[in-house]
Amino acid sequence: MANVRSRISGTGHSLPQKVLTNADLEKMVDTTDEWITTRTGIRERRIAADDEYLSLFVAEASRRALEMAGLKAEELDLIIVATVTPDQPIPSTACFVQHMIGAKKAAAFDMAAGCSGFIYAVTVGDSFIRNGLARHVLVVGAEILSKYVDWRDRATCVLFADGAGAVVLSAEENGRGLLSSAIHADGSMAEFITLPGGGSKIPVSHAMIDANLHTIKMKGNETFKIAVRSLESVCREAIERAGLSPADVRWFVPHQANVRIINAVAERLGWPPETIYLNIDRIGNTSAASIPIALDELVRSGRVQPGDILLFAAFGAGLTWGSGLIRW
Ligand code: UT7
Repeated sequence: MANVRSRISGTGHSLPQKVLTNADLEKMVDTTDEWITTRTGIRERRIAADDEYLSLFVAEASRRALEMAGLKAEELDLIIVATVTPDQPIPSTACFVQHMIGAKKAAAFDMAAGCSGFIYAVTVGDSFIRNGLARHVLVVGAEILSKYVDWRDRATCVLFADGAGAVVLSAEENGRGLLSSAIHADGSMAEFITLPGGGSKIPVSHAMIDANLHTIKMKGNETFKIAVRSLESVCREAIERAGLSPADVRWFVPHQANVRIINAVAERLGWPPETIYLNIDRIGNTSAASIPIALDELVRSGRVQPGDILLFAAFGAGLTWGSGLIRW
């Protein structure tokens, strides 16, 4: 199996219908369109309706990716859903989706690695393929962060959004596909991005909710500084592992957390604006979903040519960070 690689044979995404603009947020918290736009690059984001839940979006994104790949769900060997906002704690969202799309023979599990979850999941799916344990793996990054945001906290509620993005990884032997990836974690900074309540440490209780421990907290400024440095180094790591240089990268498809972080990383690596794929203005920060949503938009725009080198990179809760390099 020495020459087998994971090629992305299909991509898809799914977003809620409801649009929440910066003007809407001005009416909800003490903020301005000007602050949000200049500090983050976000102008609007999609927010799930009260009766919508994660697996609806995961299933729709997955069906689109399978359609592009020309595969039936029954041909999938494995489904990995990267998320920190599952339908419910038990069972995994991946199992709900396995049934919804009819992927009868696929094993299925969820993975939690914050905003880096999609890259972690691609890395795991790729190792199943390279080890000969799977030929077709569905990898989905998906979040409904709006249900976990404190809508009174202007430091977080203007950032996060909902959606799902999916890719099908298929075994291939002609040199295309995932050339390298790199994943890292540093749990000593776990408190930088956290949702403290509702687990086994602080179980669900009236007191937990009264103390507002059921919503996301983020030390944004501290996270920002580490994000730029870590993203730069993990991008270089994947590029060097593949024996390439930054100038070989045609498309940088980063996690869409903050346009200032993305531009700072691109500047350090010498990438001009036309190398960077940005949709943060319309989509906001969808955590694990942001890279596969961006990738699907880019692919469907028809701008990715065979042979193009694409680089994904993400940073998030854990702290975790990672990158993946692909020859299209
Ligand atoms: O996706 C997972 C990983 N997460 C990230 O990578 C996020 C990284 N961090 C960031 O993107 C940025 O740090 C933020 C966008 C979260 C914040 O931007 P910042 O430039 O770091 O702002 P700050 O937190 O230092 O706050 C500056 C000021 C503060 O006011 P004072 O103390 O200077 O008076 C905040 O209270 O901006 C204030 N502020 C706001 N003002 C208006 C914070 N949020 C808002 C808001 N509207 N929504």
